[in-house]
Amino acid sequence: MMPVSFLKAMAKRALRIAATADLHYAKHSRGKMQEAFAEISQSADVLLLCGDLTEYGLAEEAVELAADIRSSMRIPCIGVIGNHDYESGQPDAVAKILDETGVTMLNGEAVEIAGVGFAGICGFGGGFGRRMLNAWGEPLIKEFVQESISHAIRLEQALVKLQTERRIVVLHYSPIRATLQGEDPEIYPFLGSSRLEEPINRFKVTTVFHGHAHNGALDGTTSTGIPVYNVSAPALHKSGKPYRIVEL
Ligand SMILES: [Fe+2]
Ligand SMILES: [Fe+2]
Repeated sequence: MMPVSFLKAMAKRALRIAATADLHYAKHSRGKMQEAFAEISQSADVLLLCGDLTEYGLAEEAVELAADIRSSMRIPCIGVIGNHDYESGQPDAVAKILDETGVTMLNGEAVEIAGVGFAGICGFGGGFGRRMLNAWGEPLIKEFVQESISHAIRLEQALVKLQTERRIVVLHYSPIRATLQGEDPEIYPFLGSSRLEEPINRFKVTTVFHGHAHNGALDGTTSTGIPVYNVSAPALHKSGKPYRIVEL
């Protein structure tokens, strides 16, 4: 719990948001982000972890990341899980370990920090624009599309709860095509979905952060001009640091 005076002071000035994704912590990754977390603690007010926090979605892997967060992170931290965190069928165990370390893990929920609202969810694939996959034909296709729709609805439900002037969306999958530029076009439909873009535009979100696009472009905008940042660490690495800081 932050002291009220600290929160009031932060609400008056720009919030420095650090963001990263696709850390893919494995069983012996301890130390991997320690230096970056210490730097972030000095230069940002909040850190967003945009999914694929573990390699195979194992509790042991989450424990490695939790240890680095505990030893080096000194600012509030918000996270969502990614598809890799689902791999072993225990995404809730991964999220719980990080939650217990002090990371606010969002799965269709919202949280407010220093007067800024954050709505987060993993998201899902399905493709973009008029080429988006529709719920038609085989039951499995309908199920796939339903999952995509469900993530968009839960994002909307999280956004409804936020009364703040500034609203940030935290995702793993991309809501737009532009930040996927650099990935093979064949996999675009598995990297995100326009269904996530609709509530973002409608709720006039301030900024969106996502991961998952390891080879994607760093910057894009939604169809209404809302900035979208791909903060996948492998993509960011090319420009120096495995994280990005955006001032809002
Ligand atoms: Fe990833
Ligand atoms: Fe991913």
